[in-house]
Parts: sequence; structure tokens; C-alpha cells
Amino acid sequence: MIPTLDTASPADTSASSDAGLGISAARHRSAELETTIRQHPERFRVLTGDRPTGRLHLGHYFGTLHNRVRLQNLGVELLVVIADYQVLTDRDVADRLPEHVEELVLDYLAVGIDPGRATIFTHSAIPALNQLLLPFLSLISVAELGRNPTVKDEIAQSAQASVSGLMFTYPAHQAADILFCKANLVPVGQDQLPHLEATRTIARRFNNRYANGGVPVFPEPDALLSAAPLLLGTDGTKMSKSRGNAIALAATADETARLIRGAKTDAIRHITYEPATRPEIASLLLLTALCLDRDPRAVAEDIGPRGAATLKAVATEAVNEHLKPIRARRALYAKDRHRVHEILQAGNGHATALADSTLREVRIAMNSLL
Ligand code: TRP
Repeated sequence: MIPTLDTASPADTSASSDAGLGISAARHRSAELETTIRQHPERFRVLTGDRPTGRLHLGHYFGTLHNRVRLQNLGVELLVVIADYQVLTDRDVADRLPEHVEELVLDYLAVGIDPGRATIFTHSAIPALNQLLLPFLSLISVAELGRNPTVKDEIAQSAQASVSGLMFTYPAHQAADILFCKANLVPVGQDQLPHLEATRTIARRFNNRYANGGVPVFPEPDALLSAAPLLLGTDGTKMSKSRGNAIALAATADETARLIRGAKTDAIRHITYEPATRPEIASLLLLTALCLDRDPRAVAEDIGPRGAATLKAVATEAVNEHLKPIRARRALYAKDRHRVHEILQAGNGHATALADSTLREVRIAMNSLL
């Protein structure tokens, strides 16, 4: 059964569900969801988001942004959280926060998130969202938080000398980000599946404990795994801003050309699409193919004996052409910062209304509202 906005799937207390869906099960479920989304987009409310740590790049674009816009255009309600508190989970100060928040909003608007339909907000601006953290923390154990693979990973990569309480409890905070608006669909990459499982657990336990025979307060949101393949950066490792190997959405056509010209390739002249043995070439082919909406194998065949220099020229042209309207829209909004702030304020206003209403329901269910 597909949970709708006002009902939730039946409580599932089985141990296997607590242990988390396997990735293949999550894929299977995502395929089913895609069918339902096409038939009944109005049944879905999507919540997704990013940390404001700098400009978004092509990895984000093909990994998630593109998918969000697709869902929005199918008629699904979209909320996007700018997770500004989360920035503090792995560093001591949230450096240049206002600037990064603004850049993020610009990137969202540039790719086609429509402020007339979608809600963009910062979670620090929504008091009731953050208050949900307290009951939620009571529903998850320290051992469970300690076992969360995403948290473990983020701790391993963190720049902090010790693990803060905020880092450790992040899955409960992310649950609040998702459940404050009763989102029932969260498009995620594989790395975020454990967080989503924690959210489902918290929703289920809240309903079991407090909705006593009545209507469940929270849906158990589904993960929607995106089919997007992993794009490598220009040095052949994962694309990430901190590695300096990423092509930002906001980069100029010349910067893009320079980055692609400098991209790592290999010593074999003939271009073929072989991700396992030729990852750098395969990634350039994939990037080109994604921009042209073609198959990477077909792009490889076209280029064949003409070698890596031709591939890079083709890739540059494809990326710059694809990003042209996006960059143009970004530049338009960048000239009108006042409008950008208005959009964020309107988003925060809408999110506040939703969060206030959910917190009220939560307090009634918990008998804390007299
Ligand atoms: N944790 C996500 C990241 O690191 C960002 C995020 C915060 C998020 N809250 C969310 C994503 C809620 C999906 C849903 O990128």
C-alpha cells in the first residue's frame, strides 16, 4: 500500500524492518513508486535537501537536482530543506553561511525548482521543526545511533577532533526535517538510506506509542532511489567541491572548458565505454551522454579513433550547451537578491505553518497540550 499524505502504512514492528531494507529491496520499491507517482502525483509530498557548504556541481545536478525538478514537474509537491544546522555536524563553525545559503537558493532556482510551487526553507528558521527533535530523540537508542552507517562514515570523514552530540544525533534531526511536513517520499542516494530507515523507525515508534489505536500521526516515508550513475570528478575520484575536481553549475563556459581540458584520461587512444577498466574515459562519456540525453556507448562509437582530445571537446560543448539556460536563469536571479530573499522568506513562512501544525498534533498525541 502506498501511504498518502493523510494516512500511513500499517505499523510494521518486525525485526527485519528495523534492520533496514536491503538496497535491492529499496530499488524494487522505488520502481513501484515511480509507477504510482506517474498515476497519482498528488499523493506524494517530497522532502529533500542539502547542506549549505558551497556551490552545487554537476554531480549534484545529475545525482539529485534533475530528479527533484522532474518530480516537481510531474505534479508532486516539493519541499527543499537547506540544512544549515547540519553544517555544524562535521566542522566547528558554519563558515560564510549567509553566502552559502544564498548560493544554494540560486542553484535551486537555476535548475528549475519553481518557487511558485515548491517550498525552499532553512531548517534553523523553523522552531517547531527543531522541537520535534526532543520527542524523536526519546524514540531511538544510543546504540542505534552509534550503529548508523551514515553517521559512522561522516564521523570518519569529519574535520572535528571529537564527535559532537549534534553529529551523533543527526539521524533524529533529519527525521524532524522529513516528518515535520509529513513528507512521504524522500529521493536519496544510497549513502542516505540509513538516515531514512531511522526516520521510518522514529515515525513507526511514535505512532505505536502515541497514536494508540487512533490515526497515525506520521507517514513512514519511502526512499526513492535515483537511477543516476556516479559521476567522477576531473581527477578520476568522486566529484566533490573539496577535492577541486568538480564542475560547478555556476562555472563559466571558459572555466568549464579549462576543467575538462585538464581532466585525467588514459594512454589508450581509441575511445571505448568501459567503466570498470577505463573509469576516467567512461565518466567523461557519461557526462557527455547525460547532457545530450544519449547512450554513453553511442557517444564512444562516434568518437572512437579520434581520441581523448576530441572527447574533451565534445564533452565541453555538451556541458556548456546543457547548462546554458541554467546559467542564464542563475544570472538573472543573482541580479535580484531581494527576490531571492523573498523566496526564502516565503518558504520559511510556509514551512513554519506546517511545522506548527504538526507540533501541535504531536503535543496533543503526547498529552502535553492542555
Ligand atoms: N543529510 C543530507 C546531506 O548530507 C542533507 C539533508 C538534511 C537531507 N536533511 C535532509 C536530505 C532531509 C534529505 C532529507 O546531504
